[in-house]
Amino acid sequence: MKRIAILTSGGDAPGMNAAVRAVTRKAIYEGMEVYGINYGYAGLVAGDIRKLDVSDVGDIIQRGGTVLYSARYPEFATEEGQLKGIEQLKKFGIEGLVVIGGDGSYHGALALTKHGYPTVGIPGTIDNDIPGTDYTIGFDTASNTVLEAVDKLRDTATSHVRTFIIEVMGRDAGDIALWAGVAAGADYIVIPEREFDIKEIAAKISKSRERGKRHCLIMVAEGVMSGQEFKDLLSQEGDFHERVSVLGHVVRGGAPSVRDRVLASKFGWKAVELLKEGKGGLCVGIRNEEIIASDIIDTLENQKHHPDLTLYTMNNEITF
Ligand code: F6P
Repeated sequence: MKRIAILTSGGDAPGMNAAVRAVTRKAIYEGMEVYGINYGYAGLVAGDIRKLDVSDVGDIIQRGGTVLYSARYPEFATEEGQLKGIEQLKKFGIEGLVVIGGDGSYHGALALTKHGYPTVGIPGTIDNDIPGTDYTIGFDTASNTVLEAVDKLRDTATSHVRTFIIEVMGRDAGDIALWAGVAAGADYIVIPEREFDIKEIAAKISKSRERGKRHCLIMVAEGVMSGQEFKDLLSQEGDFHERVSVLGHVVRGGAPSVRDRVLASKFGWKAVELLKEGKGGLCVGIRNEEIIASDIIDTLENQKHHPDLTLYTMNNEITF
């Protein structure tokens, strides 16, 4: 292939810029031309496409967000939207596309693949909920941002002998709550992948209070319920001096971690290696620290993401 394009789509994630940089620079290194598509699939359909040079992706590896901007564009789920997108790609003479994003973005890449258009997906979402990879770009930074906030909440919880219920993003997955929760020494982690018993949690808080523990930190993944709903349930079991903290979109911003920058660079580099060889219909990932490429149809239709639930069991056995 001689001319490829790249887009970022769905919720932005720290490290997306490092992937855009890696794709652009590697493609230019290989003698290819690279086009950036603004605003994800919305920009693709609208033809908001520009050529990227080496300097266009300079000074971005350290920045959060995405310099290509992003959008949620449900219209791309329709055949009409997909065909319009392919028409634009052909108009610009673009022979292959790199899509960086989460679940919705991957489904767009799957649709393009089914239309026979060479596409490679790079998993980029803070949620870490994409099949075919152990980690997605942005998950590490987002988990660290949550951790930093929870460490601060612990200070004030201890001063006032309070229970903090911390609601975190993750859509239907519990990975952020789980990893940040373990790292913060959270007393309880409530995730969609495991049922919880409110009476058991209340008993656990009472017991730890009895032995003089001053703070209590409960991580609640948004996929289970809101922090406020959890507080309402807990307060029916007693008075635990509860406060709710919703971390929200703050978790999506900020400079990417070392891990995310390196992961994004590896994914971007690999995606271009594949397109260079004329290979599309794939998504890149990391399995046991090795960069892999998998069939995107098989990945999305037959595989599921599973968080590391040994962390959940472990946390219950080491934090009380
Ligand atoms: O997928 C990333 C994510 O931040 C989820 O964790 C969250 O549920 C959702 O996006 C929020 O979407 P929006 O930015 O459109 O409100």
